[in-house]
Amino acid sequence: MLSSGGIVAAQEGLAAEAGARQLRAGGNAVDAAVATAFALAVTHPPAGNLGGGGFLVLWLPGASPARGRGCLPAGVSSPERSIGRGFAVAVNFREEAPHAATAGMFLRSDGSVDRQRATSSLLSVGVPGSVAGLTLSQRCYGRLPLATVLAPAIALADNGFPVSPALSAALTDAAPRLLADPTACGLFYRTDPQGRPRAPRPGERLRQPLLARTLRRIALDGDRGFSSGPVASALARLMAERGGLITTADLQRYRARLEAPLVRRFRGQTLLTMPPPGGGLTLLQLLALVEPFPLESTGLNSARTLHPLVEAMNLAYRDRNDLLGDPGPASTPLRPLLEEPYIAALRARIDPDRHRPPAALPLRPPLAEGTNTTHLSVADRKGGLVALTTTLNLPFGNAIAVPEAGFLLNNEMDDFTASPGQPNAFGLVQGPANAIAPGRRPLSSMAPTLVFRSDGTPWIATGSPGGSRITTTLAQVLLNRLVHGRNLATSVAAPRVHSQLWPDVLSHEEGLSPDTIRLLETMGHSLRLSPAMGAAHSVEVRLEGGSSAAIDPRRPEGAAAVE
Ligand code: DON
Repeated sequence: MLSSGGIVAAQEGLAAEAGARQLRAGGNAVDAAVATAFALAVTHPPAGNLGGGGFLVLWLPGASPARGRGCLPAGVSSPERSIGRGFAVAVNFREEAPHAATAGMFLRSDGSVDRQRATSSLLSVGVPGSVAGLTLSQRCYGRLPLATVLAPAIALADNGFPVSPALSAALTDAAPRLLADPTACGLFYRTDPQGRPRAPRPGERLRQPLLARTLRRIALDGDRGFSSGPVASALARLMAERGGLITTADLQRYRARLEAPLVRRFRGQTLLTMPPPGGGLTLLQLLALVEPFPLESTGLNSARTLHPLVEAMNLAYRDRNDLLGDPGPASTPLRPLLEEPYIAALRARIDPDRHRPPAALPLRPPLAEGTNTTHLSVADRKGGLVALTTTLNLPFGNAIAVPEAGFLLNNEMDDFTASPGQPNAFGLVQGPANAIAPGRRPLSSMAPTLVFRSDGTPWIATGSPGGSRITTTLAQVLLNRLVHGRNLATSVAAPRVHSQLWPDVLSHEEGLSPDTIRLLETMGHSLRLSPAMGAAHSVEVRLEGGSSAAIDPRRPEGAAAVE
């Protein structure tokens, strides 16, 4: 879709429209992104959220407005980076382990991981970051009053909205989990004539008055409307009553962080993405590893292109598993992992003709993917860009809602290493660098990313859900656009592959040619047909002026809205 001004691309149309309305009212890309994210908390409950977390990368033209407006703690040097004729900043609102969390909290006495506790209990909940992150971003970089930005979300929760076929299907699929929680059942389900709960049908209105009240408190008091007062008390009471760890002190202690985005040049363009615990380092490593390969001449999705890309995926995932986690004072310095001497040494391990299997580790079960995370991209008429990815982790998080407050809780604690060597819900076999400890944030694959042309002008905002497939999805979207020269729509739509070292499997979507599949098998890859991967709704600032959006056809219920 094309716009002569700004544009919003998101997983759901009413939420995209909530963002576009901010652009029409004179707001910038940040106002629009925040309005869309809050609206998704109402209209797209599998992933839109108040009880989860995420990351946002923004670029705005002109000088930074942040300093002097109370956005940075005293004594902290600015995280903003100047890029072209503007500045960029990353916002980390990833969930955090509560104060009472311990490294072994998901282990049984025999040392095995209790998967139920790690994903479906109140122990699986990280201290939510979304409200802190969205309100901080909007206060520091938006232009409109918070109440204006929140108004569409409040109206959608109060008045209700017609349930889409996609939401009806998601609520039907998740019924066994959500109905186990009486609060979640009351929020989303109706009763049939026999007195049994049923998901709303497409077209029926879903009203969420409790969520509207929570949103109103946020409109009035900002983050404090969530982290203290009745909402915080309701959350802490649920935790205390049903075996969770989060206290009101955890909620009050939580701070979203403004951080310097990770920056790397790639084939003359500049990429800006989310540093750890976000997934941007893995994305940049992956692109750096394939940068010198003659991909233009080997061509999009040929075996000669996919082979080095998949080998690079495995190398990047090995570093992720062994080295990455929430960076702290004692952690491995990460910048060298992106520098050419290290990348060149890693690249030398790619055999141009043969797949290198990860030595001697057992095959892991295939990954299941749900509709659990959501990405939105915004361009405003001045070229301001926002890429925002947010999640509850699994679909509808842990499927437990906060009584009286109207929102679901995440199960992001499963993204930590519950036990080195044992896979999490995404089959990721992680290490001690990502261990659980109070106040730490679990390693994520989410990597909202911006691209700048070689002359420094803003170009693309992108990102994706997909768990461990996020970084590999984004690498392919970017290679398709930046190297293969496809337009944005084709770059997002083209069939994708994925590999993550363990299991030693090259997953591929439909659409690779039989020839390519055969050649990759000859090189030693084990191919497996996979369901669709990711949903990389992306936007682009056009050289001709205006903007365009590409909705990922894998999730056709996604939508763009224009200024
Ligand atoms: O942060 C992460 O990497 C995961 N919690 C994201 C989960 C996800 O993308 C699921 N979506 N399909």
